[in-house]
Amino acid sequence: MTSRPLRTRRQIPGWLVVPLTVWLVFVAGHVIAQDDEDRVGSDTCEACHDEVAAAFKDSVHWHNDPEGSCENCHGSGAAHADEMDPTLIRRFVPETAANERSAACLSCHGRNSKHGTFTRSDHALGSVVCNDCHKVHEATLDSSLRKESPALCYECHAPIRAQFSLNERHPVNQGGLDCSDCHDVHAPSPRGTLAGFKQEMCLSCHNEYRGPWFFEHEAVTVEGCLSCHTPHGSANRHLLTYQRAGDLCLQCHAEQPFFHDLTDTVVDPDNPTAPPRDGRFTGINDCTRCHAEIHGSNNDALFLN
Ligand code: HEC
Ligand code: HEC
Ligand code: HEC
Ligand code: HEC
Ligand code: HEC
Ligand code: HEC
Ligand code: HEC
Ligand code: HEC
Ligand code: HEC
Ligand code: HEC
Repeated sequence: MTSRPLRTRRQIPGWLVVPLTVWLVFVAGHVIAQDDEDRVGSDTCEACHDEVAAAFKDSVHWHNDPEGSCENCHGSGAAHADEMDPTLIRRFVPETAANERSAACLSCHGRNSKHGTFTRSDHALGSVVCNDCHKVHEATLDSSLRKESPALCYECHAPIRAQFSLNERHPVNQGGLDCSDCHDVHAPSPRGTLAGFKQEMCLSCHNEYRGPWFFEHEAVTVEGCLSCHTPHGSANRHLLTYQRAGDLCLQCHAEQPFFHDLTDTVVDPDNPTAPPRDGRFTGINDCTRCHAEIHGSNNDALFLN
């Protein structure tokens, strides 16, 4: 017999306390659902909830597992079936903790990689649960959504609605693309929330700007599309972060050759006695008139056309 110190058995090391607590909370969320002894079966539920059950029989969840179906989500129902007390069964209502409600769904959906990270998403951290967006009884919409997107999203993200109401915007309200083309609402942020790494998501639709270019614009290749564009809507025709292209370029290019001078006053050669015009209102501010291949070029190091 060896006489190994038993300290690690009797005492939980400090660094384990947090992970252990998280694990226990996680397991506790599953206890009701997995405690098979107290299950009564869907038939029993149906005896009292016949209308709810009848309407449920068209759903993917019923087809998946008719026998245990109700209790897969609501948890074992023996006590509730005996006493008919609604507090003795898991209800998907605000009084039930958000993580418990989502854990009931994740006991199955957590196994797939798409939804497995939900608990770390901005939505889960903001106490948004699966059934805030999904409706599993009497589902009629695609993906069993409670409401069509983007109307569903605007319910909670009012400022985003305003951005997509601008004249220049991605045509989300027009059905050209959907919030979910760019965001994975089930995934952690920041990058996971955007469906793909940085500009990969943008390039999945705007492939013509992928390159590689012989002359790359570092703003595009290093900083990414969002260093110049807003993703939702903008006052600018090309979804630029500034109304005027010149103001955007000047954020990074304070210095250009002399003839670019924007503050210099310009005398109109046809009318030399008129007061000089501000350089800002001459064409020089329209940088992409000359630097037309702004995303990258195979011909010119200065992206001139
Ligand atoms: C003997 C009858 C009976 C049986 C069996 C029964 N329930 Fe209930 N259930 C009730 C009654 C009564 C209520 C309270 C009704 C109310 O508040 O609207 C209720 C309430 C509920 C609620 C809460 C409803 C709400 O509006 O918040 C859920 C969820 C529920 N039952 C699910 C189940 C499930 C799942 C089963 C099977 C495991 C089941 N019930 C079995 C009678 C029954
Ligand atoms: C896939 C998970 C899931 C399954 C399976 C399920 N439910 Fe539900 N149930 C929910 C959720 C979530 C809600 C909250 C309302 C909603 O989002 O549709 C709910 C709400 C309810 C309610 C109260 C609200 C209402 O619609 O009257 C009752 C009662 C109920 N379920 C009974 C049942 C019965 C009976 C079964 C089996 C026939 C069942 N549920 C199967 C998830 C489920
Ligand atoms: C017992 C396992 C199980 C549980 C628990 C469960 N699901 Fe499902 N769910 C499935 C299966 C299986 C499918 C069908 C195959 C698929 O799409 O992955 C499905 C499909 C879905 C779909 C796609 C439906 C469609 O119309 O395309 C949604 C949305 C969904 N579940 C949401 C939920 C929500 C919300 C909960 C919790 C209230 C939940 N699920 C609980 C197993 C489960
Ligand atoms: C903020 C709203 C929102 C929340 C919260 C949410 N979903 Fe979804 N879910 C969506 C939208 C929108 C879609 C359809 C687009 C997509 O597939 O991403 C979807 C699609 C799905 C699908 C179908 C995927 C497929 O391949 O067809 C499943 C399954 C699903 N969600 C399960 C869940 C589960 C489980 C939870 C909770 C752990 C959850 N969702 C939370 C909005 C949400
Ligand atoms: C029930 C309310 C609700 C619904 C519905 C909802 N969200 Fe959210 N959303 C939130 C909350 C709460 C947060 C976390 C707090 C925050 O960052 O605003 C969040 C966060 C986000 C974030 C991350 C925000 C950030 O600052 O990084 C994105 C992206 C997002 N939601 C997109 C969507 C999309 C797309 C939909 C529709 C499919 C949707 N949401 C539906 C409530 C909701
Ligand atoms: C063309 C792709 C695209 C579409 C479509 C899109 N988004 Fe975004 N969204 C983004 C990007 C990229 C960011 C990150 C912006 C940043 O980091 O500056 C973002 C940021 C957000 C944020 C967090 C920042 C903020 O402004 O509050 C929310 C919330 C959000 N989007 C919700 C939505 C909703 C809701 C929809 C649909 C109505 C939607 N998005 C459609 C690309 C998109
Ligand atoms: C799901 C496909 C899709 C994704 C992803 C996408 N876009 Fe778009 N984009 C479009 C569509 C569709 C239009 C509208 C084209 C039209 O009206 O002719 C558009 C228009 C634009 C325009 C304005 C073009 C113009 O002058 O009218 C810019 C700029 C743009 N997108 C940049 C981006 C950026 C940056 C991203 C990443 C944050 C992105 N897009 C992601 C589909 C997409
Ligand atoms: C250095 C700033 C900058 C960066 C970074 C940038 N763009 Fe642009 N983009 C512009 C400018 C400026 C225009 C307007 C071009 C013009 O005036 O002809 C434009 C126009 C566009 C257009 C509309 C073209 C049209 O025909 O109307 C799309 C789509 C676009 N960009 C997508 C992207 C994508 C995708 C990325 C990331 C890979 C990206 N941009 C990165 C500055 C930039
Ligand atoms: C986010 C910062 C950023 C923005 C915005 C930006 N650029 Fe650049 N640009 C760079 C960087 C970094 C380089 C390469 C480094 C360098 O040599 O200065 C570069 C290089 C260039 C070059 C090649 C000449 C040179 O100095 O190497 C031109 C021309 C240029 N940019 C024009 C523009 C124009 C026009 C705009 C506006 C549409 C613009 N840039 C917007 C960061 C930016
Ligand atoms: C009328 C056409 C025209 C317009 C408009 C224009 N440029 Fe240029 N730009 C040029 C030419 C031509 C050169 C090359 C000059 C040279 O070879 O010395 C150049 C060179 C540059 C360079 C490279 C400087 C270097 O050190 O090599 C930058 C950066 C630049 N421009 C930025 C801008 C910005 C920012 C704007 C908008 C405020 C702008 N340009 C507007 C024609 C233009």
